[in-house]
Amino acid sequence: MRFFYLILVLYTGPVESLQDIGWFWHASDFHYDFSYWSDQLSCNNEVTSPGIYGDYWCDSPWLLIKDSIESMKEIRPDVDFLLWTGDNVAHISDDYLSVNISMGILQNITDELQRNFPDVPTYATLGNHDYFPNNQFPAENSEIYDRVADMWTNWINDATEITRFRNGAYYSVKSKHGLRILGLNTNIYYTSDKVTANMTDPAGQFEWLDQQLTAAKNNNEKVLITAHIPPGMHTPDTILWYYPHFNDKFIEIINKHVDNDVITAMYYGHDHSDGFKIFYKKDGTTAFPIFVAPSVTPWRFKAGTQTGPPHNPGVRLISYDRATGQPINILMYYINLPDSNANNRTDWKLEYNFTQAYSVDDVTAPSLHKLRLRMEEDKSLIDMYYKFKDVSVSNPPSCNDDCKTSILCGFWNHKPDDLNTCTEKGKTTDDPTDYAVHLHANLAIVVCLLLFVQHLLL
Ligand SMILES: *[C@@H]1O[C@H](CO)[C@@H](O)[C@H](O)[C@H]1NC(C)=O
Ligand SMILES: *[C@@H]1O[C@H](CO)[C@@H](O)[C@H](O)[C@H]1NC(C)=O
Ligand SMILES: *[C@@H]1O[C@H](CO)[C@@H](O)[C@H](O)[C@H]1NC(C)=O
Ligand SMILES: *[C@@H]1O[C@H](CO)[C@@H](O)[C@H](O)[C@H]1NC(C)=O
Ligand SMILES: *[C@@H]1O[C@H](CO)[C@@H](O)[C@H](O)[C@H]1NC(C)=O
Ligand SMILES: [Zn+2]
Ligand SMILES: [Zn+2]
Repeated sequence: MRFFYLILVLYTGPVESLQDIGWFWHASDFHYDFSYWSDQLSCNNEVTSPGIYGDYWCDSPWLLIKDSIESMKEIRPDVDFLLWTGDNVAHISDDYLSVNISMGILQNITDELQRNFPDVPTYATLGNHDYFPNNQFPAENSEIYDRVADMWTNWINDATEITRFRNGAYYSVKSKHGLRILGLNTNIYYTSDKVTANMTDPAGQFEWLDQQLTAAKNNNEKVLITAHIPPGMHTPDTILWYYPHFNDKFIEIINKHVDNDVITAMYYGHDHSDGFKIFYKKDGTTAFPIFVAPSVTPWRFKAGTQTGPPHNPGVRLISYDRATGQPINILMYYINLPDSNANNRTDWKLEYNFTQAYSVDDVTAPSLHKLRLRMEEDKSLIDMYYKFKDVSVSNPPSCNDDCKTSILCGFWNHKPDDLNTCTEKGKTTDDPTDYAVHLHANLAIVVCLLLFVQHLLL
């Protein structure tokens, strides 16, 4: 009997076994092309034999969207919630779109999610392509904000927050397990939004975010932030999606609260590539991670002689600690698009298990910080990161030394000047007096790139 008690004590010993683990899905950038089987309006090259699940040159046919949502349900139906970070309308000229077409697409994807996850709330946010005209999000109520508020009423499930959504397409909800979810409309900060360009706080969202973070601290809540367009620098292409004054303001608000340990993580889309970043506290210790999910659409960018890489469709499953809100792991699922078309069926497979692939304890900021330092020493880890960026497409582009420096610097530098200073240090051993000259030359390059990239309109 005494022996039995001893075993019992040993068995219930490890603290991990008491951790209450929850799961949620994150899907982004479906970009449905309703003309895939007719005019192929989104396709960047002529596609003579379109595959039933899609083509690297085009946005998604409906079957791909339906199949990805059904696969999420098959892999794990019992999740606490879903994150859906926008861009549901294809890369199609406004000439072929309208408010009703965009709203019809949003309604159909909303219905598909509700059909597959009837008892699970989806915390959804709009992407720049979900507005009509494209990108032109206003700072106050509009027909689109109203219609989407009606569509997502059951998910937001709070009269005050639905009213807030009608005003600026952002909201705050508390999940079943007590995590505060802030769904932001970051499209109003995008350099392609001409309506908000000269404003200081469109839709009052900055002031509200500041208040929400203060309230969360006072109420002892943990916060998850989700939105379409991420702040900071997209690397290795060195793209700042926000107008610089909005990026500065966003970071200023985050920094004001960064030492309070309120934000657990941020989840975005828009990049159409898989990546993460780390936010640090004032004393240089880690604060929280930023995760960017790749797209479901395989669509390949092309403008003039410039082409983007192909990528495979992917969705991700995230585990987190329900008590602390801290993220634990990311399981990335994907299909190889040509194989799926050739086999006439999809086989959604685990692309990677984050903690296993990178040998880290979890995906919290301290673990990602250690990984970042290991990447500085072991560049093969960046090659793996780069392969995942395009969702393990066959024959991916390679990442040279400048590309690797840019990625390493992008993990922790969220402003153009800071990123530039970091990449300069990373690749030059020049006389320091030359430094300022290099810096200015590079700043000019960054500005040109930014102007060019505005036209990519992811
Ligand atoms: C757009 O949709 C609304 C609501 O469904 C409908 O009342 C209206 O007639 C539609 N407009 C056009 C131009 O089709
Ligand atoms: C949405 O689904 C309905 C019903 O299946 C269909 O008639 C309609 O064309 C779809 N809308 C779009 C924009 O594809
Ligand atoms: C914003 O300011 C610029 C420069 O002053 C001006 O050209 C532009 O028309 C303004 N935009 C709006 C929407 O007011
Ligand atoms: C592919 O699958 C669909 C539906 O399962 C079926 O209708 C079609 O005939 C199949 N095509 C080929 C080439 O096997
Ligand atoms: C992911 O990897 C961890 C080890 O880091 C392991 O404990 C876990 O079972 C793996 N999960 C899946 C679904 O492969
Ligand atoms: Zn997109
Ligand atoms: Zn986008």
